Amino acid sequence: MTRDLTTVRREISRANGLPNAHYTDPATIAAENEAVLARQWAGLDVASAVPEPGDAKPLSFLGNPLLLLRDREGVVRVFQNICRHRGMILVEEPRKIEGALRCPYHSWCYGLDGRLVATPHVGGPGQNSHPDMDRTTLGLIEVRSHVWRDVVFVNLSGDAAPFEEIHADLIARWAEFDQPLWHGGPESAFTLDVATNWKLAVENYCESYHLPWVHPGLNSYSRLEDHYHIEAPGRYSGQGTLVYRQLRGADEATFPDFPGLSAKWDTAAEYVSVFPNVLLGVHRDHAFAIILEAVEANRTREHIHLYYARPDTDEMLRAKNAQLWKTVFLEDIFVVEGMQRGRHARHFDGGRFSPAMDGPTHLFHDWVAALMLGEDPVPPAQHAAE
Ligand code: FES
Ligand SMILES: [Fe+2]
Repeated sequence: MTRDLTTVRREISRANGLPNAHYTDPATIAAENEAVLARQWAGLDVASAVPEPGDAKPLSFLGNPLLLLRDREGVVRVFQNICRHRGMILVEEPRKIEGALRCPYHSWCYGLDGRLVATPHVGGPGQNSHPDMDRTTLGLIEVRSHVWRDVVFVNLSGDAAPFEEIHADLIARWAEFDQPLWHGGPESAFTLDVATNWKLAVENYCESYHLPWVHPGLNSYSRLEDHYHIEAPGRYSGQGTLVYRQLRGADEATFPDFPGLSAKWDTAAEYVSVFPNVLLGVHRDHAFAIILEAVEANRTREHIHLYYARPDTDEMLRAKNAQLWKTVFLEDIFVVEGMQRGRHARHFDGGRFSPAMDGPTHLFHDWVAALMLGEDPVPPAQHAAE
């Protein structure tokens, strides 16, 4: 397996894609999950999923039971969703926690900051403390998290470099969009279940090469030649368009723009895969985030969320926009599912990349291969530029 990956790291004109095992073999995928998802900053959910203090939502990430919650100060935090006593699952369904978080088994109680605050009868009937049970060491175990553009990123292993450090370049690239963004509400969130490995969704998202054939509607006004590549080796990749056109309602109304954008964004829009599993889009008047949930080797849940510049945008127009994007994302399903089935072909060599068109996709493969090989995914030249 290691030998095969060296061909992935070649320069694009001589490189192969990742071998089939990365899409089909449980042992390879388990190793990859550790290197690529658990040890990096991966998307878990959105902060809007827990809008108010006390809101809690249980989630599973790579089989780990996690709890996303908003504490009393309004800070979004992620904990392991288990009690420090006997490891019972604490929260089964999304809910609001009034007061403390109480374990349903023996009623140990935790504050929303994770502190263990009550241990009834732990020292015997009527004795709520015991000299050998130091509550200060038995708080909920927090998972490192970072919220950017409403996406809650987690670093499960706890030892990745800080998010702002790794993604300084992208944060700077989109600094103009660094302002409040408002989730469009229930009709602006939808989930697609796709019979593919999550990586194929990333690979397809970063390139514009497929637009003429897979998205004829989109391509009718945003043509292949109107697109450019976005390439940040070892960090992110994607594509941009120079001819973004705003959606119009029945009365020609549009969504309000994010304030203060430079002229470039009058017609530009960008679509970036933030490695590993978050797909983002920015436009003058709306944005979206897609979190790819790796369910199984050949199953991915795409969680899509749309955002606007103000909380009071027109509901009908929001629904229309959500439908438009849903149509586009549904158009992509047959290719990511077809490529997944294609990865059971015994003699497939990972495929070849168009040096002109597949740069962003190759960068993602190169990043995965580097992490699997234990090499630095960021090329020396890029480090030198920092
Ligand atoms: S397992 Fe939670 S209190 Fe016993
Ligand atoms: Fe597409």
